Amino acid sequence: VYVIGSACVDVKDLGCIDACPVDCIYQGDRTLYIQPDECVDCGACEPVCPVEAITYVDDVEPEDEKFVGIAYELFDKVGSPGGAAAHGPVEDHPAVTALPPREA
Ligand code: F3S
Ligand code: F3S
Repeated sequence: VYVIGSACVDVKDLGCIDACPVDCIYQGDRTLYIQPDECVDCGACEPVCPVEAITYVDDVEPEDEKFVGIAYELFDKVGSPGGAAAHGPVEDHPAVTALPPREA
């Protein structure tokens, strides 16, 4: 499983969406979320992110650890829609909504 960390918040380059062969990267208002059960670990998204927000779960930096739980909790609610394009946007996890706005 790959995880999107804090670097994506309020940046949302969106390049990762096109890179993912299984369309498992879901867009919230402030960040994007990889569906852990749908991600096939292909790793195609990791190098395309200009802010290096995407990491393999075992390599997540300590300060981004909470984003692992955030993704699992979000998809406990959303489920496994089987494709982000057809599903459309998701509501941000409350922990993401609570983050202060990124300084410009
Ligand atoms: Fe975010 Fe990087 Fe994707 S900024 S939207 S994880 S390409
Ligand atoms: Fe897609 Fe990245 Fe997983 S491209 S399959 S979210 S490793």
